[in-house]
Amino acid sequence: MRRAAHQILDDPKVFEHSLALRILGPEDQAELRRNLGDYEAPRLRPLRAFLAARSRYAEDALSEAYARGVRQYLVLGAGLDTFAYRSERSSLRVFEVDHPATQAWKRERLAAAGIAIPPFLTFAPIDFEREKLPAALERAAFDATAPAYISWLGVTIYLTRTAVMETIAFVAARPVGTEMVFDFSTPAAAQSALAARVAAADEPWVTFFEPGDLARELTEMGFRRVDVLGPREINARYFAQRSDSLSVGPVGHLMHLVV
Ligand SMILES: C[S@@+](CC[C@H](N)C(=O)[O-])C[C@H]1O[C@@H](n2cnc3c(N)ncnc32)[C@H](O)[C@@H]1O
Repeated sequence: MRRAAHQILDDPKVFEHSLALRILGPEDQAELRRNLGDYEAPRLRPLRAFLAARSRYAEDALSEAYARGVRQYLVLGAGLDTFAYRSERSSLRVFEVDHPATQAWKRERLAAAGIAIPPFLTFAPIDFEREKLPAALERAAFDATAPAYISWLGVTIYLTRTAVMETIAFVAARPVGTEMVFDFSTPAAAQSALAARVAAADEPWVTFFEPGDLARELTEMGFRRVDVLGPREINARYFAQRSDSLSVGPVGHLMHLVV
């Protein structure tokens, strides 16, 4: 809903495409248009900005990885991500790795919106808390011997620290040239009103990282590149010189790892 609101409310757009609206279907689109004012509340605009920026960052890095020859894209915790349905790169295999319940819900939405599932997309169901990623990927015929580009957006905050670090260790063990982009929040996020709302909705935020500590830990794991983008860098890169003052808040961070 927030990525769709970004398409309607923000100009220029940081992340632009029409499927963000279409995948909602007519009812949710109508609800969004009825309640657009709510999305402009000062405490919610930074979240919309962050959601737009993290998708833009991940897809820009994907384009660079593709130019370097990477031909597998793992979308971990895909949710309503629409990359696969917009992609014109038929030689890029895309794997949407997500909870089976979310995937079933998404497939209903895709069907209702008349959005076709492209031949290069594979759905790989997993519960990150109960199952190991390699098993889920093996079932999906992912090529573990070739490098992959991996995005993991809006997920780490919902998982235990153990589950997060296990997935990162899996990435560290991939072939050279593998890359991952993910987002995380600092402990200050736990104090926000949104944290209380998601907890009340039974999807509590549980894992936070201090950027410096996390970067050190990942460097020690052996990644060739560990780039952290904090709010200041995100605002400078994507939200400078806007007349509408749209910008991200202080808690969300982006991480780019290269094996
Ligand atoms: C906030 S959504 C983010 C979706 C998408 N990446 C985006 O940027 O819009 C969180 C996603 O994490 C997935 N997720 C959360 N906990 C999970 C778990 N234990 N196993 C598998 N997926 C999980 C949800 O199914 C959902 O798709």
